[in-house]
Amino acid sequence: MVIAIDGTSASGKSTNARLVAKALGFVYVDTGAMYRTLAWHCLQAHIDVHNARAVTAACRRWKTKLACVDGHVRLLVDGYFPEKEIRTAEVSVAVSVVATVPKVREWMKKKQRECIQFGNLVMEGRDIGTNVFPETDYKYYLDAHLEERTKRRAAEGVNENLAARDQRDSQRATAPLMIALGARVINNSNLTSEQTSSMILEDMRQRLAAEAK
Ligand code: DC
Repeated sequence: MVIAIDGTSASGKSTNARLVAKALGFVYVDTGAMYRTLAWHCLQAHIDVHNARAVTAACRRWKTKLACVDGHVRLLVDGYFPEKEIRTAEVSVAVSVVATVPKVREWMKKKQRECIQFGNLVMEGRDIGTNVFPETDYKYYLDAHLEERTKRRAAEGVNENLAARDQRDSQRATAPLMIALGARVINNSNLTSEQTSSMILEDMRQRLAAEAK
């Protein structure tokens, strides 16, 4: 079973996906972290992220391994997960550029689908319900006002132009950010993460109970 949680940047996908996964005993997958890890790798290797051919070649050569640690899936590079390194402002700018490369998205989709080997999943990203697991019945789309999302990022110590990233994510040609057909849309501008995750959990419980009848 896969619960897909998509949405704009800083709409609370990670926090809520973690809470939902923990409550249900599912494995949590942050697909943004996978794209960020590739962007970080390109920056480390001095690959121009605007050069789609170079990024594609780097992705093809890339030696990685999927691992599940404490219920979270990690994409390891030489056995290492660059947890802090992938959250810098530099990586945040580079990531939505590498995420536009069609071959990169193909590679990521394959890896992300392989995550099912670890069990039932709560997978968050931009194209999970539309492209990675379009067959799942459990799709959610989170959003919040731009001002609120900018405040949330600033509280984490990151000042970035979220409007520009939203625009790149929703206007790219391959698997752009959009609301999947049948997704439950939650605007959580005025909700805490406990309230948002409770809404998802309540909805899931009702649906699973109805399906069990
Ligand atoms: O969720 P995040 O901010 O860590 O994601 C970083 C970037 O990765 C995001 O700007 C676009 C890209 N991404 C994507 O294109 N598709 C996904 N499923 C997840 C992330």
